[in-house]
Amino acid sequence: MIGDWFWKWSKENPKNIYGPGILIGAIGGAVFVGAMIVTWGQPYETTTQQTGPRGTAMGVVKFTSDIEAGNPSVASYAETIAAAAASEAEVVDSPVSDELTRAMREWTGIPTLFSAREDSYQNTVASMMIGMTQAINSEWDGHVGDTGVNCYTCHRGEAVPSGIWFQVHPAVEVMEGWGAVQNRVTAVSQFTSLPSDALPKLLVEDGRITVHDLDPRVANEPGDPTWQDTERTFSLMNYFSNSLNTNCTFCHNSRAFYDTAEVTPQWATASIGIQMVRELNVDYLSALDGILPEERLGPILGDTPKAACMTCHKGYQKPIADQDLQSVDMVSGWSEIGAE
Ligand code: HEC
Ligand code: HEC
Ligand code: HEC
Repeated sequence: MIGDWFWKWSKENPKNIYGPGILIGAIGGAVFVGAMIVTWGQPYETTTQQTGPRGTAMGVVKFTSDIEAGNPSVASYAETIAAAAASEAEVVDSPVSDELTRAMREWTGIPTLFSAREDSYQNTVASMMIGMTQAINSEWDGHVGDTGVNCYTCHRGEAVPSGIWFQVHPAVEVMEGWGAVQNRVTAVSQFTSLPSDALPKLLVEDGRITVHDLDPRVANEPGDPTWQDTERTFSLMNYFSNSLNTNCTFCHNSRAFYDTAEVTPQWATASIGIQMVRELNVDYLSALDGILPEERLGPILGDTPKAACMTCHKGYQKPIADQDLQSVDMVSGWSEIGAE
């Protein structure tokens, strides 16, 4: 059947077929395993945390192993407090006030990172931070509960907390106008093509967080939500989900995102959180302008660092809580930062 030319050619050009054979086998095996995972479901055990009423499919699916592993901050916070207590001798001679020394050593978990020099800008910032932390605990207990926050909630042993952000817009320099704030992957657009100005417009300014209502939209009436409002809202919602490592049904019933009668209790906590974050950014962190050295300012627009959900939550549903979601008490015994 096969012409003689083939056998002749084959004899003259001997080839090792084992290499390609193994490769095809490996690819085939991978396709087979992939098909098995897709048809049988992924092999790791999951569990669903119910967030809404029964029968509405409102829940958050999580890997059981992740839940059992818990939040490592609980253990590292305990270690930090113990280490700070043990290092007492080192800071006795600090020229700054007792209150500041105690705050820096115990709460931030950074005994040696901050300069003990009286004229350091860090002392000015630390005094402001004490006021800010107290405001969070006394005015925003609707969000932070009895658990409260202290310096460690944000700082975690670092002078500059993780999860802070700066303005990056315009994101595209060759264009002007609205288009220039989107279609470019940035960290503040959650690595999507959504707008990169959602955080400044919605978590510093009080821009509109809204997508639609049920009115027909033949003509755009004044006051109707715009495309820009919509796209920023989705950009912000991605940020929420990433900051807490939850999906949308943690807060919403996905059949009616607009309907505040069908949301979960967590939606209400988040809603208060939005107001709280605006206050932190406007009343406190923007006041660091002129105090912070240049290297602490935004790389593009030179703005002051800003906080939001990620600065406290760090990718966890509650910032510092065990696997049963029992939060660690961050304020009792520290009258300097507790509720008045
Ligand atoms: C809501 C989160 C949050 C809390 C709570 C918080 N901080 Fe901060 N802190 C920040 C942010 C944001 C910055 C600005 C980061 C920078 O300096 O680049 C900052 C900066 C600082 C700095 C300047 C660091 C540097 O080297 O630039 C000091 C000092 C400081 N904080 C001390 C404290 C102390 C003390 C407390 C507790 C009383 C505290 N912070 C609580 C968010 C927080
Ligand atoms: C941590 C809670 C939380 C999570 C998670 C969350 N949202 Fe929201 N969402 C809210 C809150 C609170 C508002 C209302 C904000 C306001 O009006 O001030 C809102 C508003 C919205 C709106 C505007 C509704 C309207 O009135 O037009 C939409 C749409 C929306 N979210 C979609 C999503 C999507 C999609 C996701 C997942 C990617 C998501 N949300 C994740 C809390 C959350
Ligand atoms: C200053 C720190 C801080 C910031 C900033 C912050 N949170 Fe929280 N949040 C907390 C603490 C602390 C708790 C836990 C309270 C408790 O255990 O009762 C919490 C609880 C929550 C809960 C309830 C979780 C549950 O399972 O009941 C939601 C939802 C939430 N935060 C959403 C947000 C969103 C969305 C943002 C940003 C707009 C935000 N948080 C910003 C500190 C913060």
